[in-house]
Amino acid sequence: MNKVVFVCLGNICRSPMAEFIMKALDQDGSLHIESRATSSWEHGNPVHQGTQKILRKYGVSFDSSKGSQQISQSDFEFFDLIVGMDESNVEDLLQISAGRYDDKIKLFRPGGVPDPWYTGDFEETYKLVTAGCRDWLQWIKDRQ
Ligand code: 4NP
Repeated sequence: MNKVVFVCLGNICRSPMAEFIMKALDQDGSLHIESRATSSWEHGNPVHQGTQKILRKYGVSFDSSKGSQQISQSDFEFFDLIVGMDESNVEDLLQISAGRYDDKIKLFRPGGVPDPWYTGDFEETYKLVTAGCRDWLQWIKDRQ
């Protein structure tokens, strides 16, 4: 279980934040980590300025050329673990994949991560995403 994808609505705020924080935490580089959107709304758009700013503030490196990408059927096949950032992302993932990958689809944390696109609170997002990524890293290591 080493291929992980984080998924949110737009793939510009929460899931890229989780992708880059998880990459920073995975110091031995044993995981394949990416992020995706459930929607095509932000297709090709860069990581949100609020996410970029908070990652810079905490010294987390990120790929500034990353553009939003909607999850595809081949992604459901490829990834071992598909983590929705909130409950509605999980519902959408279950629906898009039509019940074929239910075992791989998980909620990032109980209660989800509130969307900073609406809250504007990227500091809160960073704290929840960092704590959640630490928990996921441990969860994955416990199963290896
Ligand atoms: P994200 O935030 O799902 O954390 O990337 C959003 C980004 C864009 C939109 C909504 C949420 N939007 O409505 O375009």
